[in-house]
Amino acid sequence: MPPEASSDNLPRMPRPRTASNPIYAPIRRALLNWYDRHQRPLPWRRGPPDPYHIWIAEIMLQQTQVATALPYWRRFVRRFPNVRRLAESSIEDVLAHWSGLGYYRRAHHLRDAARRIVAEHRGRIPSDVDALMSLPGIGRYTAGAISSIAFGRRAAVVDGNVRRVFARLFHPVESGRDAGAFWDLAAILVPPGRPGDFNQAVMELGALVCLPTSPRCQACPLARFCAARLAGVQDRIPPARRRAPRKLLEVASLLITRRRRVLLVRRDPGGLWAGLWDVPHVPLESDARADILAGALLRDLGFSADGIRPLEVVTRQLTHRTFRAHVFMANSPRGAGPRSDRYRWYDPRRPSAGMSRAAEQIIKLGAAQFARAAQRPRARA
Ligand code: ADE
Repeated sequence: MPPEASSDNLPRMPRPRTASNPIYAPIRRALLNWYDRHQRPLPWRRGPPDPYHIWIAEIMLQQTQVATALPYWRRFVRRFPNVRRLAESSIEDVLAHWSGLGYYRRAHHLRDAARRIVAEHRGRIPSDVDALMSLPGIGRYTAGAISSIAFGRRAAVVDGNVRRVFARLFHPVESGRDAGAFWDLAAILVPPGRPGDFNQAVMELGALVCLPTSPRCQACPLARFCAARLAGVQDRIPPARRRAPRKLLEVASLLITRRRRVLLVRRDPGGLWAGLWDVPHVPLESDARADILAGALLRDLGFSADGIRPLEVVTRQLTHRTFRAHVFMANSPRGAGPRSDRYRWYDPRRPSAGMSRAAEQIIKLGAAQFARAAQRPRARA
């Protein structure tokens, strides 16, 4: 049992940030023992480490929890089983397999980095942190994760989970926006034997036990070392960050349907959802009328605007923005429609295009309309 403690006996805790500290070895041991018994059986942890599998997993896990990322990871590595296959593929295809995960720039970076690895490293993912960090989309975190997990190098990682675990374990940790103190701690703590397992163990502990709210201290292998717990402040550490209010991004969107297909447009490179497919839309300025803009857009696309009707308002929370689409529907409008190859008629029953979750949600509205129309009894001639 940990000794009863209060914050005034904390100074007796060994200070954490020196290279040799008597609590490091028992912390490493306790954590690795726990990891050996409690780690989740993830496909990229099975068998000898495959750097490519680990790279894809780490990129996906930067934005998504393991349970959500898993089906994407499986589909992705089935379609692009190695660096060369990824390097040779079209960005369209890569985006289609990233569709729904968000942060689509990461998919662009993955394909670009694969090309660089083929061109500059003969298709072999480098093991060295600096070489990894020179590749597109690989920052300090991902480089440390690949280097330690795939190659057994003694490299540190710091992500949100690591930060939370260390903030509690070594409370108080003073660290600036660059999380420098956490990187220092991680670099000191990561052991030369099993560095990848150690890094994964800290992240796993953060994901399963040292939770942001209501940490499960009774199940924690590090409870007896944890300064925040000994001070009784684990629920308040780290303090919640106040996030800036999200900006509102409002558009009028057009669901134009024809023979159970929906008209899509390719988004321009640069900007939000670059290169992905979307329903045609126009930004809504503050005093603009969505219905008027939607009608004008329909005419600009080469259709007649009669029969257009409001359908629904779709709202999605993005990282820094609230996206709101006022969706209008035009069922088989008269007119030839656009001729450019930026547009395509898309069959929602056969998903094959990279698109945002917001676009998927809007297109589903169209599919629901088709289903309803199919159920209505046909008028007799
Ligand atoms: N989060 C990100 N990468 C992880 C990993 N390799 N293990 C556990 N959690 C993670």
